[in-house]
Amino acid sequence: MQTPDTMFQDGAAYERMMGRWSQRVGSRFLDWLGVAPGLDWLDAGCGNGAFTEIIAARAAPASLTGIDPSSGQIAFARRRPGAKGANFEVGDAQTLPFAADRFDVSVMALVIAFIPDPARAVAELARVTKAGGLIATYMWDMQGGVPLAPLHRALAAMGHAAPLPPSAPASSLAALETLWRGAGLTEIEVETFPLNVTFDSFDDFWQSNVQPVGPLAAVLRDLPDTERDRLRQHLKESLPTDADGRIAYGALANAVKGRRAGG
Ligand SMILES: C[S@@+](CC[C@H](N)C(=O)[O-])C[C@H]1O[C@@H](n2cnc3c(N)ncnc32)[C@H](O)[C@@H]1O
Repeated sequence: MQTPDTMFQDGAAYERMMGRWSQRVGSRFLDWLGVAPGLDWLDAGCGNGAFTEIIAARAAPASLTGIDPSSGQIAFARRRPGAKGANFEVGDAQTLPFAADRFDVSVMALVIAFIPDPARAVAELARVTKAGGLIATYMWDMQGGVPLAPLHRALAAMGHAAPLPPSAPASSLAALETLWRGAGLTEIEVETFPLNVTFDSFDDFWQSNVQPVGPLAAVLRDLPDTERDRLRQHLKESLPTDADGRIAYGALANAVKGRRAGG
């Protein structure tokens, strides 16, 4: 079975595959949160620090803590110049190693679908957040909204497994809202963030997405060379490509925010 530490070990590979998309949607998510400067932030499932860096650059936090079960991602995050002031720890969002009422804002960026028990993680975020504090997340819509969706479709069309994260259904807008209500949060709002995903060329698309990280990594690694060639060909023929060879298509992230009651 794949664990976060095997699926997400390589921080540089994650950066190549997802870093820029994470930061583009992350910036819009942060604007939507609309929080004041000078607050204590938790970034649960911080991975290689892609979104932590956005918080550091744009939210003027008083303190910034990132936690992730993957030691490889945390090692990359600790070296990330843009997240220098943050404190990074290895740990699980389902059992956070923090006292109650510690943070003003607790977020999970592109994480909830990877957590075996999302409700438990949301309850943990609520526990460590101060009364009146904000708890929020965003996740690619796993029904075709993830930037890797063309790879999923191509693998499926060729009869190969294209595994989704273990809690993929938690990524829908309705599921996110249900999770937030279930944790007793108040002032709940949801939002969607469409994103235009672009690549300079087919090679750019291929190099970016065929990386040793994420749920598809094991499938792609184990493909025989002939199947890999077929996959390349299938994608070349099916991806939307303009006259200059550029590739562009849409992705979609769903977000939810709410407050811990009693502030
Ligand atoms: C797609 S990455 C997102 C990384 C980063 N937050 C970002 O915005 O780019 C998903 C992350 O969730 C982490 N993860 C998986 N299971 C987790 C859990 N139980 N608790 C916290 N993080 C988890 C993985 O290790 C991985 O770093």
